[in-house]
Amino acid sequence: MAESKTIGVVGSGQMGSGIAQLAAVHGFDVWLLDTDPSALSRARKSITNNINRLISKGQLSQAGGHDALGRLNYTTDLEELHMADVVIEAIVESEDVKKKLFLALDKIVKSSAILASNTSSISITRLASTTSRPGQVIGMHFMNPPPIMKLVEIVRGAGTSDETFYATKSLAERLGKTVICSQDFSGFIVNRILMPMINEAFHTLYTGVATKEDIDTGMKLGTNHPMGPLELADFIGLDVCLSIMKVLHAGLGDSKYAPCPLLVQYVDAGRLGRKCGIGVYDYGRASAQVIP
Ligand code: NAI
Repeated sequence: MAESKTIGVVGSGQMGSGIAQLAAVHGFDVWLLDTDPSALSRARKSITNNINRLISKGQLSQAGGHDALGRLNYTTDLEELHMADVVIEAIVESEDVKKKLFLALDKIVKSSAILASNTSSISITRLASTTSRPGQVIGMHFMNPPPIMKLVEIVRGAGTSDETFYATKSLAERLGKTVICSQDFSGFIVNRILMPMINEAFHTLYTGVATKEDIDTGMKLGTNHPMGPLELADFIGLDVCLSIMKVLHAGLGDSKYAPCPLLVQYVDAGRLGRKCGIGVYDYGRASAQVIP
């Protein structure tokens, strides 16, 4: 398989914009797509600011930053991804929406292209089954924020070929990442372990065992985690955490994975975390209705 040069990224939210930035800084031509033009313009602004910050900190040369910005293309038209060697999908964590996208991408991209998903928990095997190329479908799970976090968890679907696995591993390494490999079972490695901990932190809050501050301080100072679980949930997005818990519950079939009612209620109330100004913590969204 030839080395990838052009990367399509679908979804320009927290993860997609970070993956696009990372790829452009590492010399790839990037097409970043979103169906929502306002998400795309937010992504353009945030990537430009981040690259300028890297230049001002001396972590990227002026010329390097300028070239990276020049390699980034923004679009709402899926057809523009036809020249991509690899497409990394980072849209909403919904199996139905992702399946529709994989079906459409399969018809647009060249026959040699790899279709990768940044899904946190959804079955790669099932996404692959909507395409005519299950051997070329793989999970490429970046951590948040993608330009900073060192890990990529590669997920092999039941039909993922060795060639696709090694090409994806090499791509992740060219992006400066360390790779771990998971078989395709709900939650893979990292979220299988992380999300039940976050869910348990919600139960600890819900049942009045402790305040949110004490839960987070307990886990930071007691177990040396850089962020407490509730703080981390706000950072990830409570909607994303809830979707993953639902996938774990459905896929592994044990009641211990049932989402905590408080997590469900926060999402119902639109308290999605940092990205919308309020989650477990209030980041200053003035009109927020605060549930005690
Ligand atoms: P986000 O909500 O910030 O962004 C999702 C973007 O996808 C939005 O801009 C939305 O307009 C766009 N979108 C939705 N449907 C689309 C479609 N059919 N075609 C094109 N664009 C579409 O979500 P976030 O947090 O970036 O998550 C994206 C994916 O990455 C999810 O699968 C999530 O599970 C995964 N992930 C999230 C992490 C996190 O910490 N938030 C960490 C690792 C993976």
